[in-house]
Amino acid sequence: SRVAVLISGRGSNMAALLAAASVPSYPAEIALVVSNRGDAAGLELAAKAGVPGRVVPSRGRTREAFEAELQSALEEARVEYVALAGFMRVLTEGFVRRWEGRMVNIHPSLLPSFPGLDTHRRALAAGVRLHGCTVHLVTPGVDEGPILAQAAVPVLEGDDEAMLAARVLEQEHRLYPAALGWLVSGHAWLEAGRAVVAAEGA
Ligand code: GRF
Repeated sequence: SRVAVLISGRGSNMAALLAAASVPSYPAEIALVVSNRGDAAGLELAAKAGVPGRVVPSRGRTREAFEAELQSALEEARVEYVALAGFMRVLTEGFVRRWEGRMVNIHPSLLPSFPGLDTHRRALAAGVRLHGCTVHLVTPGVDEGPILAQAAVPVLEGDDEAMLAARVLEQEHRLYPAALGWLVSGHAWLEAGRAVVAAEGA
């Protein structure tokens, strides 16, 4: 299956997906990387990996204009699935519906705890003992879609935001390729508003 990865910055999750997809047995091919910012570091990583990268600028445009160009880029690349990876732009309901069941996101918390930004700082402030990351199908409500997979990490005495973020990120890089693989290979799907996962080792 042909997958596009949408980024806005560093692109370490994108890099983890590219690495997974470079293994012949992996069920997805990363056909396109799209960034809504021209200065996203992830674009260079994609170029080095030989994956087509494209900038679709979002700044100073309406969401509709941005998404029209994005949709064209996805269609031109004959993309079947979309993986959001540190993509910082909220998508309209119309766009999300068009990709229903075929668009996933990774979020750096154990949803439904800590949707939105600054998840690691908020987890530390709340004093939770477990934190982690979630891969979910994208629905119009931000960080609200059906959960495909989660990984938990301990919050340790003396953790600061950077230490906790690094511990979670290591799990993100493991979890995201696995969950995307289940979806594109038909081992996970959307059914009656929930994600069903029938994958081995899920
Ligand atoms: C990750 O923590 C991801 O979960 C969140 O934003 C961060 C992006 O990092 N949505 P990267 O661009 O994948 O390195």
